[in-house]
Amino acid sequence: MTVLHVVGARPNFMKAAPVYRALAQRGVTQVLVHTGQHYDAQMSDVFFQALEIPAPDESLNVGSGSHAQQTAAIMSKFEPVLLARKPDVVLVYGDVNSTVAAALVCAKLGVKIGHVEAGLRSFDRTMPEEINRLVTDQLADILFTPSTDGDENLAREGVAREKIFFVGNVMIDTLIHFLPKADALYPALQQELSLQNFGLVTLHRPSNVDEAGTFLPMLKVLDELSRDLPLIFPVHPRTRDKWTQELNKCNPNLRTIAPQGYLEFLALQKNASVVVTDSGGIQEETSYLGTPCLTLRENTERPITITLGTNVLIGRDWNLLRSEFTKALNGNRKRGSELPFWDGHASDRIAEVLLR
Ligand code: UD1
Repeated sequence: MTVLHVVGARPNFMKAAPVYRALAQRGVTQVLVHTGQHYDAQMSDVFFQALEIPAPDESLNVGSGSHAQQTAAIMSKFEPVLLARKPDVVLVYGDVNSTVAAALVCAKLGVKIGHVEAGLRSFDRTMPEEINRLVTDQLADILFTPSTDGDENLAREGVAREKIFFVGNVMIDTLIHFLPKADALYPALQQELSLQNFGLVTLHRPSNVDEAGTFLPMLKVLDELSRDLPLIFPVHPRTRDKWTQELNKCNPNLRTIAPQGYLEFLALQKNASVVVTDSGGIQEETSYLGTPCLTLRENTERPITITLGTNVLIGRDWNLLRSEFTKALNGNRKRGSELPFWDGHASDRIAEVLLR
């Protein structure tokens, strides 16, 4: 059996890494395709090194563009690779443009698709990722879900039950595998960044960072909160390119730094008193680690992080943000409980399904 993996953007790398490892352990022939959706060393290369993923067999180098341009570029560059490599199954990950683009190419050529992290729904179609999720899941032949809400969403959309496999969370496989390494590097990172008590911030979603009317009030509240607890803010290129001047005007307790590598960011999440974010994956990682997570979104496609994890949806309610932030500081915070199948073996389950 030959399995071809398609990855393209930062959150794909930590999902593909453990599946690649699980299949390698079982002697499966694999091909790794990197679309190049993310291309800065800090957004891509450093993850391949830290996650111990081999260099891609094929790099499509598509780069940035509008959604249509990027999706179309991936499709036209991926098609000849797929025809040449003739895999038995293609695995796509998560909900980024590379995911849906590769799935469309496979579906048109009749190549089997496995979707890892299937079934998640925010029910918000203004979010580009929701469109990517809906389309990819309609096209996929094998759907691997991280939580049972995913199974229910898929069944409701008419996906046959026998195509759906609840396997657990592959990103947590990676977290569990690399946590000892992240712990080992934390003292050096702590010294380098002079960290005592701190909070961690990430913001990159277009709905938060593209418009001044949305982003600047958000930044003002974070600037205010950082006077109570210093905040470390690794800035995504999308946010940095747009708001460098405004970020530089904040008080020194709101400290912007470059995007971090996987191990460094994991260590920061584990040791932060609170995380404020609009990321999807960080809601999950903080839930596993037991770090309070305040999500600056109106909805989440990962509801289990609210019911069983440490996540609180803040939307744009700044009073709620202030009160949840203070609660986290006082130790009066939401505590998570165990999440089913977030146990480090989701990738093994995927490998076993594929071999069957
Ligand atoms: C993409 C995903 C999003 C995911 C995020 C993680 C889609 C629709 N969105 O969003 O789900 O949460 O990745 O980071 O697929 N840029 C660089 N260097 C890079 C990559 C991007 O400077 O290596 C800049 C460019 O200005 C680019 C912008 O970031 O136009 C946005 O990049 P893009 O890949 O379109 O989307 P993300 O916002 O990163």
